[in-house]
Amino acid sequence: MVDPRGIFWFALLLLFLRFRGTLEQTQPLSSPLERESLLQLRTSLGLRSKEWPRKPDPCLIWIGITCQNGRVVGINISGFRRTRIGRRNPQFSVDALANFTLLQSFNASGFYLPGSIPDLFGVSLRSLRVLDLRSCSIFDVIPNTIGNLTSLTGLYLSDNNLTGNAPDSLGQLSALSVLDLSGNSLTGNIPESFGSLANLSSLDLSGNFFSGSIPLGIGTLSRLQHLNLSGNGLNSLPAQLGGLTSLVDLDLSENSFSGGVLPDLRGLRNLRRMLLGNSMLNGPLPADFFTVSLQLQTVVLRKNNFTGSLPVEMWSLPRLTFVDVSSNSFTGMLPSSSSSAGSTVAVLNISHNLFYGNLTPVLRRFSFVDLANNYYEGKVLDFMHNVSIDSNCLQNATNQKSTVECASFYAERGLSFDNFGQPNTTKATEGSGKSNKTKIILAAVLGGLGLLAILALLLVLLILCTRKRGNSSQRGNGVGPAPAGGSPPPPGVSVNLASVGDSFTYHQLLQATGDFSDANLIKHGHTGDLFNGVLENGIPVVIKRIDMRSTKKDAFLSELDFFNKVSHQRFVPLLGHCLENENEKFLVYKLMPKGDLSNCLFFKNTTAEDGTLQSLDWITRLKIATGAAEAVSYLHHECIPPIVHRDIQASSILLDDRYEVRLGSLSEASGQEGDIHQSKITRFLRLPQSSEQGASGSSTSVCAYDVYCFGKVLLELVTGKLGISASSEGVLREWLDQILPCINMYDKELVTKIVDPSLVVDEDFLEEVWAIAIVARSCLNPKPSRRPPMRYVLKALENPLKVVREESSSSARLKATSSRGSWNATLFGSWRQSSSDVAVIPAASGTKLEGASSLKLSATSSSSSRRRHSNEICPEPSFGLPDVERVDP
Ligand SMILES: *[C@@H]1O[C@H](CO)[C@@H](O)[C@H](O)[C@H]1NC(C)=O
Ligand SMILES: *[C@@H]1O[C@H](CO)[C@@H](O)[C@H](O)[C@H]1NC(C)=O
Ligand SMILES: *[C@@H]1O[C@H](CO)[C@@H](O)[C@H](O)[C@H]1NC(C)=O
Ligand SMILES: *[C@@H]1O[C@H](CO)[C@@H](O)[C@H](O)[C@H]1NC(C)=O
Ligand SMILES: *[C@@H]1O[C@H](CO)[C@@H](O)[C@H](O)[C@H]1NC(C)=O
Ligand SMILES: *[C@@H]1O[C@H](CO)[C@@H](O)[C@H](O)[C@H]1NC(C)=O
Ligand SMILES: *[C@@H]1O[C@H](CO)[C@@H](O)[C@H](O)[C@H]1NC(C)=O
Ligand SMILES: *[C@@H]1O[C@H](CO)[C@@H](O)[C@H](O)[C@H]1NC(C)=O
Ligand SMILES: *[C@@H]1O[C@H](CO)[C@@H](O)[C@H](O)[C@H]1NC(C)=O
Repeated sequence: MVDPRGIFWFALLLLFLRFRGTLEQTQPLSSPLERESLLQLRTSLGLRSKEWPRKPDPCLIWIGITCQNGRVVGINISGFRRTRIGRRNPQFSVDALANFTLLQSFNASGFYLPGSIPDLFGVSLRSLRVLDLRSCSIFDVIPNTIGNLTSLTGLYLSDNNLTGNAPDSLGQLSALSVLDLSGNSLTGNIPESFGSLANLSSLDLSGNFFSGSIPLGIGTLSRLQHLNLSGNGLNSLPAQLGGLTSLVDLDLSENSFSGGVLPDLRGLRNLRRMLLGNSMLNGPLPADFFTVSLQLQTVVLRKNNFTGSLPVEMWSLPRLTFVDVSSNSFTGMLPSSSSSAGSTVAVLNISHNLFYGNLTPVLRRFSFVDLANNYYEGKVLDFMHNVSIDSNCLQNATNQKSTVECASFYAERGLSFDNFGQPNTTKATEGSGKSNKTKIILAAVLGGLGLLAILALLLVLLILCTRKRGNSSQRGNGVGPAPAGGSPPPPGVSVNLASVGDSFTYHQLLQATGDFSDANLIKHGHTGDLFNGVLENGIPVVIKRIDMRSTKKDAFLSELDFFNKVSHQRFVPLLGHCLENENEKFLVYKLMPKGDLSNCLFFKNTTAEDGTLQSLDWITRLKIATGAAEAVSYLHHECIPPIVHRDIQASSILLDDRYEVRLGSLSEASGQEGDIHQSKITRFLRLPQSSEQGASGSSTSVCAYDVYCFGKVLLELVTGKLGISASSEGVLREWLDQILPCINMYDKELVTKIVDPSLVVDEDFLEEVWAIAIVARSCLNPKPSRRPPMRYVLKALENPLKVVREESSSSARLKATSSRGSWNATLFGSWRQSSSDVAVIPAASGTKLEGASSLKLSATSSSSSRRRHSNEICPEPSFGLPDVERVDP
């Protein structure tokens, strides 16, 4: 028999367990305004009812809401996902937050908030203590008003795309304990005001573009435990950091303290990790370097230019577990004593230095040792297992340096070399040394003679070539190769360098790009490698490194020539150049924050679970198309002589932070072929053109070629099919055969078959999309002479509806054909032409389509016979995505 009281208590226990989590906030939300605002937030951010259900009380049931006395004090949407609708147009839209006057913490880390930080945070949320917006894809500058949040103890803005300076006003946040701005694109100096953040325990500014010096005040923050300034362009250190008495973690690596010596670190008695790698430090280590803190566990000094010896205390530090001093110029011998104090699970990397002498038992305490590339001599010790010893002067070991190298190293320092333990065979060594020397001399002499001969030959060729070019009037017929040799502009052909930006030194560019580190490499372009960089004044730039040995030599000259002649806000700004090296030339451009069209048409939605792609909306696409058309139209119609860009494709269309087009890839640009006014340079250096005929119908150096390429870009924008504008003719042809029949002047609906599925197109825009597709098609006319001139294309893009509306009313058609100069008449003349050209569709694809047309018979009532016909010949585009592919019955 069951005791009813037992059941009662059991039920009560269950109830208790169920609500235990919410016991502390049993009070429901008492403010109707806050309730409304939560619902508004839910809508503006597109949150799901799974976390924030419509009905029950937010304080009791909603996830991520913290309440006190019936008011909301904390909102945590970190880790939430947006609804499908919310994902369609995600924005940093949190106006409703302004109504939570008691809000203490807002945590949206990892939630996708593309936009700039609204001022309302600093203006309305005065009680905020914690603001966590890590990895939210936020961009733009940090608003000054954040400095008003004087209760703030934690400000986390890392891993976004914040730009501009860090505002001085952040220095007013006197209660701040954690400031994390890492992983953004902040520039300029670190504000001096950060030195007054007396309560700071963690400061992370790593991975930005800060430059200049570290403010003195930062060295006095006595509560600071973590200081990370790595991966910036800082170039000067304060003389001492001794005020950082609580500091545990110091990371100053990957900066360019060029010629900088270590600051005085005495006083950092709690230091455990010291990371100073790759930051251009030099000089010897002070004798007390390793005794600064007995807590030291990790010391990284790799890739600097330190000299002198390692202080002997290093070998007996009790806690040391990781030492990397590789790739410096340290020298000296290992201590012989084996005071094997401390841990044995330890890593020691002293490779790529100038250490010498015998190996000693002092290494015993380390489990992993890399001493490769030094000058250690003598025997390998028996306990050494996880040891890399290559390229030393050790006995009975493989891959060691040569006797000559070892002997001369030791001799230079007045030391005696054990000669790999061999008996002194001076005679033999000397003999071989001598014969080596003779060989070298002989080789040098022969090489020198050979070089002279080659040079002479080149000179003769060069003279012959120039002469021939001089008298020959038939250009472009392949008169010999481009002049070899000659890295500075050949005499007589000079670009006015003063008018094409500043002249940078190679050293400045090294600094700007971290020695052209791989981390800064953007891509290997076909005319040079592109690197990200930051100039001394904090301006982010893109630097093109042109390897004169592997690229066409005239490319950079004709590009300079281009900038010499053209200055227009539609082209990427050239800030300067560096021509001082023989084999490498550099061009420095302003950084375009949005990159190029090929990488920004689609972008990864960083927060959405499945990495879904976002894509540019139609208005932005049309803006980009118009901007690009303006640039090309300028070249074709406003430059005298007309300039052909010759490399129009999505990746040439660079975009600034407002998606304004700044056309790039200008190294191919040249005067129109057959134009007698061609610049001296391009004429002189012109490569044979005969091989440059494409299926686009003609040579690449006529304006019509640009128009053709532009048509491909337009189609890429309409269909969202990436890479079309860069694809080979064969691939393109095949694709065009499928796509073009869907672009029909008389049937708007057809175009929906090829429109980018990620483009949410409503009826208004569909007409524009249709119009642009028609323009694209007329640009793609196989006959160059039938393609519209760029200025008409531009007109059409500016008034897309005119293209379709005027033309589809028959009276307008008459008008258009009668006024011969009208731009849309020209456009449509060419459209008709190109549609008849393509109307010949292979039978195979025609049969395959029958199914498509019956499946998707358009719902429009007045389907004329012509319309049906075009429906039948219109294939379902395959976008290469399995889920889009139609399964044939
Ligand atoms: C909350 O504040 C914002 C901005 O001040 C305002 O636009 C909104 O109407 C207010 N009310 C609600 C319910 O969001
Ligand atoms: C914030 O919300 C997420 C997701 O609900 C949760 O995993 C996390 O623990 C919360 N964080 C805090 C600090 O409450
Ligand atoms: C915000 O939420 C994330 C995820 O739950 C958590 O890891 C993080 O610590 C929170 N931020 C703060 C400042 O508490
Ligand atoms: C910043 O922007 C670039 C391109 O504009 C993008 O590739 C990158 O993913 C963005 N970073 C973050 C953290 O959103
Ligand atoms: C907030 O900060 C800004 C800039 O720091 C300042 O100009 C403004 O007066 C402050 N606003 C309030 C309400 O304190
Ligand atoms: C500094 O931080 C401590 C705790 O870390 C806190 O007790 C103190 O109030 C803070 N000081 C200021 C000025 O906010
Ligand atoms: C060290 O100095 C030499 C010459 O002074 C220089 O060539 C080298 O690049 C420097 N190395 C580093 C890592 O700074
Ligand atoms: C050199 O190494 C081989 C095999 O590793 C060993 O047999 C030989 O005794 C060694 N010779 C000397 C002189 O250590
Ligand atoms: C080898 O012998 C020569 C003279 O025979 C002497 O000058 C040289 O210093 C000796 N080298 C070593 C390494 O002992």
